[in-house]
Amino acid sequence: MLDLNSIRNDFPILNQGFIYLDSAASSLTPEQVIIKETEFYRFYRANIERGVHRWSQKASEEYEKAHELVSKFINASGSENIAMLRNTTEGINLVANSLDWKKEDKIVTTIIEHHSNFITWLRVCQKHGCKLNVVASTPEGIFDLNDFEKIIDDNTRLVAITGVSNVLGVITPLKDIIQIAHEHGTVVLVDGAQLVPHLKTDVKSLDVDYLSFSGHKMLGPTGSGGLYIADELLEQTEPLCIGGGTITNVNVDSYELATSPMKFEAGTPAIAQVIGLGEACNYLNKHGIDNVANWDHVLAKKLVEGLLEIDRVKVYGPLDPKQRVGLATFNIGDMNPHDVALTLDTEFNIGVRSGHHCALPLMKELFQLNEGNVRASTYLYNTKTEIDTLLMAVEKIANQ
Ligand code: ALA
Repeated sequence: MLDLNSIRNDFPILNQGFIYLDSAASSLTPEQVIIKETEFYRFYRANIERGVHRWSQKASEEYEKAHELVSKFINASGSENIAMLRNTTEGINLVANSLDWKKEDKIVTTIIEHHSNFITWLRVCQKHGCKLNVVASTPEGIFDLNDFEKIIDDNTRLVAITGVSNVLGVITPLKDIIQIAHEHGTVVLVDGAQLVPHLKTDVKSLDVDYLSFSGHKMLGPTGSGGLYIADELLEQTEPLCIGGGTITNVNVDSYELATSPMKFEAGTPAIAQVIGLGEACNYLNKHGIDNVANWDHVLAKKLVEGLLEIDRVKVYGPLDPKQRVGLATFNIGDMNPHDVALTLDTEFNIGVRSGHHCALPLMKELFQLNEGNVRASTYLYNTKTEIDTLLMAVEKIANQ
């Protein structure tokens, strides 16, 4: 069980009378992470891996420790499997730009992807002449394994799939998908932006090849994120940028790249942010990611059941809370979702996201929604009372 009182004390930002239900866009940050990040600036602010002096040594040590914490958080074998990047999008783009695509390659993705895991592959196909196949979903956004099995074949070079939809909160059957993909010799990239913060993610038991995720959605600082790369792909995965810090030797006419993770982290990295992300992992470990997931289900159940009881409200995604994280999208009659979100903010002090949530193919193909919908998303610091307040506000708006 989560100790909500103690957790909320760690987030003084919550003491402003504002109900924050937009954690799927970016989570809040606990004091422990803020302190850890500012300690870098206050006490040992120096570049990493470049100085013999004590501040540089301390910064390098903390930076490396953060790599280890993040790597353990997803049960990777070691730090060499984690490239610290800015966010999920950067990780996906790194993979897209690093493979030697051929015309006959096929990429398989799904209709429920965030644009970052969709247009990136469209671009690869436009550039290299490969083919993008899109797996269908049920109207609730549930992955269609039968359709997937029909689409995937031995020419499929990559399956790019989200672990959890940022629009519907629906959880993807990753284990089955990865197993089927591997039977065809296909590499799997998982967009873990909404997965890693909410559900225990074990890269070894999933047997995933690439997993990209963002620190700012899991209590860490903005500008921090990671790309997990499985052992057998470390060598062949090319860095997105090269330069300072990525080499072991340079001659006038040649260079040798360092091993991972150094080769992926060109230039001075986001040192303070990475150190902060390590502390965010400590914080989530302390409270238990399984407890976070259970609380998600409690809040999702309350949210979805409450919304369904309100006249004129349509809820999107699966109705079974076990199939989703703490996130629900909805519309009120034919009201513009941005108007609903603005009213929730100005009249009820509630922050939600509205619009297409960077998932236009999903909005258009599954729901024919031009303006999108309203999204309420929770995290470990949200309370049942906050959900009651949201439901009361939605009901008032629906009855206006
Ligand atoms: N990907 C983030 C969201 O879903 C920004 O809101």
